[in-house]
Amino acid sequence: MSSLLTEQYADRIREALTDFLPEDEGASGVMRQVMNYSLSVGGKRVRPALTLAFCELCGGDTEKALPFAAAVEYIHTYSLIHDDLPCMDDDDMRRGQPSSHIRFGEANALLGGDALLTRAFGILAAADLPPALIVRAVDALSLYAGADGMIGGQVLDLAGEGKTLSADELKQIDILKTGALIKCACVLGCIAADAPWEQIAAAENFADALGIAFQIQDDILDVTSDSATLGKPVGSDEKNQKNTYVSRLGLARAREEEARYTAMAIEALDIFGDAADSLRAFAGALSGRLS
Ligand code: IPE
Ligand code: IPE
Ligand code: MG
Ligand code: MG
Ligand code: MG
Repeated sequence: MSSLLTEQYADRIREALTDFLPEDEGASGVMRQVMNYSLSVGGKRVRPALTLAFCELCGGDTEKALPFAAAVEYIHTYSLIHDDLPCMDDDDMRRGQPSSHIRFGEANALLGGDALLTRAFGILAAADLPPALIVRAVDALSLYAGADGMIGGQVLDLAGEGKTLSADELKQIDILKTGALIKCACVLGCIAADAPWEQIAAAENFADALGIAFQIQDDILDVTSDSATLGKPVGSDEKNQKNTYVSRLGLARAREEEARYTAMAIEALDIFGDAADSLRAFAGALSGRLS
């Protein structure tokens, strides 16, 4: 997937992700290697791009929002390392290379994920922004990434394996496991810009719809793509008897739902006028993405 928005920010995001790694010596050097392995290759950088885009849209300084963007990508990358573990989705490939636990063993993969998660909060604290905004960012990240957000969604996703969930239950899984961190990325951009509540509310509505669309497209690609294109195994959802829009509605209706949520996301940007055109194009590019 390529969009002007991700291309525009790619270099600065890559630099920021490296800047916040731990020292390359002793035990921290081992963790640096594990963390960098998953961080440095592949990855569409959707979440950090959203943070920077909303910061810019709300009139903030994207340079100062870079730590917020990096922190979300650290959390996302940790969630992928843990998601691939044998006790979760048990997938051997991620971002085009062997999954972290295949490369480093389960214990170091677990610890590398923990190290990314822990570091994310230190990265927020290092931002050159007023302390009151940093406190709001810490609060948002811990809420959206935690048991009421992404982790809660992962719990429901795993508990639902092999069962037939209702449409509402399925939607709730996607809102939490994927939508919550996407929402966090957007909200952190607004916080970095100290945006007014109307803009934060619009960003939240955008992210709520985009998060569901994003997960539906992920589920579609799990059955329509190939592992070389995706950089991760295909057929993982069927293997694990997951509830997805594809397994419940079939491909055609899953595609309709994905398009409907993408349209809702784009509509939520109305209050920003033309200034949000690159974000509208980004939502369109995510909808049509092949990986
Ligand atoms: C994969 O996220 C996990 C989901 C929430 C669907 P991405 O598709 O953003 O993965 P990367 O960051 O590009 O590897
Ligand atoms: C994972 O959803 C969402 C996370 C919080 C990591 P998936 O399990 O569908 O993500 P992939 O397909 O492995 O990337
Ligand atoms: Mg999963
Ligand atoms: Mg998975
Ligand atoms: Mg998936």
